[in-house]
Amino acid sequence: MSKNNPSNKFSHHTFSLFDAEFNDPASHLCMIKDYERCQGFFTQLQAHSKDKIVIDFGAGTGILGLYAGIQGAKEVWFIENQLNLHEVIHDLAKKNKLKKYHVVGDFTQIPKDLDVGVIVSETLGDTGIERNYTYLYSQLIARYPTAICIPDALDIYYSGCYVKEVDIENEYLKNFPVNLESRYLYPFPGMRPTRLEGIEVKDNLLFEFNLRRYPTGRDIRKIVELKKDPKDNFLSFYWKAKCNGEVFATNTPARSKDNFNHWQQLGLKMPDDKTLGVRVDHLQGPFVLCGNPHPDFINNPEKFDNQNFEPMEFKFNDEKPKESGFIHWTT
Ligand SMILES: C[S@@+](CC[C@H](N)C(=O)[O-])C[C@H]1O[C@@H](n2cnc3c(N)ncnc32)[C@H](O)[C@@H]1O
Repeated sequence: MSKNNPSNKFSHHTFSLFDAEFNDPASHLCMIKDYERCQGFFTQLQAHSKDKIVIDFGAGTGILGLYAGIQGAKEVWFIENQLNLHEVIHDLAKKNKLKKYHVVGDFTQIPKDLDVGVIVSETLGDTGIERNYTYLYSQLIARYPTAICIPDALDIYYSGCYVKEVDIENEYLKNFPVNLESRYLYPFPGMRPTRLEGIEVKDNLLFEFNLRRYPTGRDIRKIVELKKDPKDNFLSFYWKAKCNGEVFATNTPARSKDNFNHWQQLGLKMPDDKTLGVRVDHLQGPFVLCGNPHPDFINNPEKFDNQNFEPMEFKFNDEKPKESGFIHWTT
């Protein structure tokens, strides 16, 4: 795929930062620049869209639904809750000559008896689970059991790996003029987002999510025995998204360097603990990890969470763009 890939020319900085909320179109351009991500979805849409009614859930700029239209979808429903993006979708629908389409803010606005053939959604945050949005996607696909779902499954992996930067960082911190040996900082500063590419991994499966039968309950917890290769210095978490058993998108550290990658992985310097408690909040997103897990982690999750976990705030934006905020060129 990377053969004709122009995206290795993009930097990981300046124009390619993704630090805004989804209501900012610049964050969407950043996702568009991830060639492998787009091609992964496009390949699936090319295979399944012709003559179908397609739902694009979390449409953003609408590129996935628009591509389905280009591939012969007979009707496209775009669902996007950042209402300021609706204008972008209408604009691009016109430019891409999409005839039959609807743009709505909430999936409950789609008729239940619609003969939906394909549901596509880029629900894939850095940790696979994107806030409550992955959960809502699973509710949507449950309403249309015969539709092809892109994705229909999400596998989450962990792997020890060797990252040169970690050794360099260790050396730097060890020799720093101020003693930094606090457990909060060094050598175990906790989980952090990284962007690893071209790194060898071992693909240990952590959780398998069948998105058509989403897990119930407050979260999923697991204790993993760490198989620590002496060469490894970093523990990375990443995912692979599948449709009909085929992996079409992933943020594995083994991803090619010849691609601008907008995703990150979560990871931490390899801890000395032999076991690690992993909790994934499948309703709101990321992981909580703990070395040598406290019994409360397993036996009294509520107590553990109250002490250790602050839920993320979910922002809903229904502001329309302000005309006065645009610069209009005079020609
Ligand atoms: C990762 S972006 C993907 C955008 C686009 N589909 C693409 O592939 O470039 C996710 C989009 O889903 C939207 N979104 C998140 N939660 C949503 C919800 N509950 N209903 C509708 N849209 C949602 C976000 O605002 C954002 O535009």
